[in-house]
Amino acid sequence: MNPVILAMPGNERVADALAAVLSFDRGAASVRRFPDGESHVRVESPLEHRHALIVCTLDRPDDKLVALLLLASAARDSGARSIGLVAPYLAYMRQDHRFHPGETISTRHFAEWISRRFDWLVTVDPHLHRIKELSEVYTIPTRVVHAADSIARWVGSEVERPLLVGPDEESNQWVADVAQRAGVPFTVLEKTRRGDRDVEVSVPDVARWRSHTPVLVDDIVSTARTMIETVRHLRQAMTEPPVCVGVHAIFAGAAFDDLRRAGAGTIVSCDTIAHPSNRIELSAAIADGVRALMPTSFREISP
Ligand code: R5P
Repeated sequence: MNPVILAMPGNERVADALAAVLSFDRGAASVRRFPDGESHVRVESPLEHRHALIVCTLDRPDDKLVALLLLASAARDSGARSIGLVAPYLAYMRQDHRFHPGETISTRHFAEWISRRFDWLVTVDPHLHRIKELSEVYTIPTRVVHAADSIARWVGSEVERPLLVGPDEESNQWVADVAQRAGVPFTVLEKTRRGDRDVEVSVPDVARWRSHTPVLVDDIVSTARTMIETVRHLRQAMTEPPVCVGVHAIFAGAAFDDLRRAGAGTIVSCDTIAHPSNRIELSAAIADGVRALMPTSFREISP
């Protein structure tokens, strides 16, 4: 029997695309809120003896987590043999350190909750910084899908004479990767974050690339302060307005408009979080990630 794909609300497009690429069955589930704000979930397709996966991107995770964990439990109660999670954006990866006394390392707790309910996890470019591998915090098999190849192809076909720019040391890993795949130069700046919306970025030394088009690449765009500060410098140092590429388009509040107003040129993102800036499709890459992980988990879980 084919595995069954369920979608949390808002994830239907990715679930449909994965079902088509993987030839899995598309199952139905309902998720709604009671008038008191509690969640009601129901699996509406037969799951007995079948492998199941739930698609749920985890931006704004606090609004989604309870229903997601309940849906995983409902799938288990319905007799599913295994339950995987495809979370194109994985939340709580930036709270990977106790910055002040009294805080907790949220990344670890979030990983523990997911690991208890799911048998495996596929995600796209999680924010790995102080935690180097998902296996340091997730106790289930995980697979990381990289957006670099798709971004490099987009840059190669849409931007003339690109110069890739990473805003901070953390971005070096994906900016260098994208630049190498696209065969273009890159530079990485230094960033100091003083608060959620208070960011300082070093002045780029880009004199020798003045005639190139700067392409700013970052994994997460949340308040967009990081991109905005970088765009301001680049507007002064270079001729062309910077193209901004984000893997995960959170764009909290008015962040997208703020970035435009700061002088960004084209703003694009991968489709890990539905947003009008989505231009770079990752369903095929995610399907490869599921394919690579599922056989292993089949062997481990199948009787
Ligand atoms: C942080 O290190 C990340 O790589 C991003 O640079 C950061 O999350 C962007 O956040 P914001 O858009 O709020 O500046």
